[in-house]
Amino acid sequence: MDVQVTFEPLARKAKVRPGTTVLQAARKAGVAIATRCGGNASCFMCKVQIEDWTGLAPMKENERKKLAGLEKTGTRLACQAVLQQGHVIIQLPPDPLRAAIAKQLAKQQEEDTLW
Ligand code: FES
Repeated sequence: MDVQVTFEPLARKAKVRPGTTVLQAARKAGVAIATRCGGNASCFMCKVQIEDWTGLAPMKENERKKLAGLEKTGTRLACQAVLQQGHVIIQLPPDPLRAAIAKQLAKQQEEDTLW
């Protein structure tokens, strides 16, 4: 049975076969997750937040070592986290470009209200 995956806050969804990584599912859903190491668990650019891990295969020691305690906050490496069953909701990190634009717009609005 396929695994349902939802990428938030984009609300992008995909159905994938068990054994698919979160990174592969993201690509199927048309979601860009930055990578630099080609999925070798060394660049840390593919970090995502997953609160409920029941739909995931158990974390392998390699990923646990790389995360060095961050897994306690729900952080997983998209290239290493393997989807197994059910419906998994994945929170994408904020896009740094969008965050910078939002910050600049907020600053401009604040300046506009002073005039
Ligand atoms: S793609 Fe580099 S750590 Fe996942």
